[in-house]
Amino acid sequence: MELIDISELTVLEEGTLKSNGAPYAVVFLEPCHVRQIKALHDIVYDSPENRQNKFILQRDEGYFLDALTGHNGNAVIGIVSRGQLIAKSAIFHPTKEDPSAAEAMADTVINAPPEQTSVLQAVTVSPDCRGNGLMQTMLRHWYQHARAHDRCHVLSEIEIHNQPSLSAFLKAGLHIAGIHTSHVDGARVTHAHARIKYAAHAHLDDNFNAQACGEAAYIPCLADDLDAQRRLLEEGYVGVSLEEEGQVLIMKKAPGAAAPPTVQ
Ligand SMILES: CC(C)(COP(=O)(O)OP(=O)(O)OC[C@H]1O[C@@H](n2cnc3c(N)ncnc32)[C@H](O)[C@@H]1OP(=O)(O)O)[C@@H](O)C(=O)NCCC(=O)NCCS
Repeated sequence: MELIDISELTVLEEGTLKSNGAPYAVVFLEPCHVRQIKALHDIVYDSPENRQNKFILQRDEGYFLDALTGHNGNAVIGIVSRGQLIAKSAIFHPTKEDPSAAEAMADTVINAPPEQTSVLQAVTVSPDCRGNGLMQTMLRHWYQHARAHDRCHVLSEIEIHNQPSLSAFLKAGLHIAGIHTSHVDGARVTHAHARIKYAAHAHLDDNFNAQACGEAAYIPCLADDLDAQRRLLEEGYVGVSLEEEGQVLIMKKAPGAAAPPTVQ
């Protein structure tokens, strides 16, 4: 596979991997990189971990080209280290006329019209580069990109057992707004959502959040107790963080919270 030459691309951020000190650059990829993108996707899709858990769906080159065209601000964020693609995420911006990327999730987030929503899919980090915060890095650039395209809602879908992915989304300030059955493969999935301007506060300290949100009621729930989570979602709670090594989901209800999401 040929290497990716970043000298012609706009570099959004540079850093070094905590694990081995290798340099990396965060970029928006272009249509000519579709083979490298598909190759990384296939490595992760074909891994024994994914074959067992079905955390990501199989995708063809056409799917990534749709994101790479830049139509409506669609994009693929890539992280390149020494010419190798080590991480990528596809951003889709649905429209009123073509809500497809968001429509499977529209029943969860009733206050997020397609034309204000940015959807992240196909997030993958090369197995030997995990734990370096690369997903967090991509989520940060996703927010910036969504804002630049006047999208104030961010939305993604995660298989319910995908603790690394859930943890990264919750740490970035998204919350679990619904539990559903995937329209594509029948998997049980959570829908993670945030208004970007509120998600930006997630990194601030608890005192700030308490004052910004008012007194919030927090309830811990076993991470695999979907019935309890569905009951709380129906009462207007949302999932906000994973604790106890991913075993416990903390759910929160703030006074004046938006209307409760629907649960199927
Ligand atoms: C999900 C995924 C993208 C996370 O990438 P990452 O860059 O390693 O993520 P981060 O470094 O930001 O860490 C996020 C979580 O990954 C997990 N993690 C950390 N180090 C890890 C490692 N060495 N190996 C595996 N998982 C690790 C942790 O649960 C961490 O959460 P914590 O900080 O609360 O402990 C990556 O594991 C992956 O590609 N998984 C397969 C595809 C997938 O599930 N995609 C998401 C679809 S919604």
